[in-house]
Amino acid sequence: MRLGENEYKAYQNACTHLLCPVFWDQGEGDLICPCHKGKFDVQTGAPTAGPPTRPLPEIVVKVEAGTIYATRVKRYEEKL
Ligand code: FES
Repeated sequence: MRLGENEYKAYQNACTHLLCPVFWDQGEGDLICPCHKGKFDVQTGAPTAGPPTRPLPEIVVKVEAGTIYATRVKRYEEKL
């Protein structure tokens, strides 16, 4: 997701409840899982509603010369 001029966030999109695909609802500002009404915070990936209890694993991105690169998946226990 592009959240600002130079601010990007990416997460693995398999819901941490039962692996349904999560999508970005830009109008609501949330990451939504339609299967059981799960929601995740776009800034942290933390669950904010529904049955998920674990955050979405974050994909670390960097921008170089106008190109966005996915560099690695952040581990759960790492602080943001
Ligand atoms: S699979 Fe996402 S809320 Fe259940």
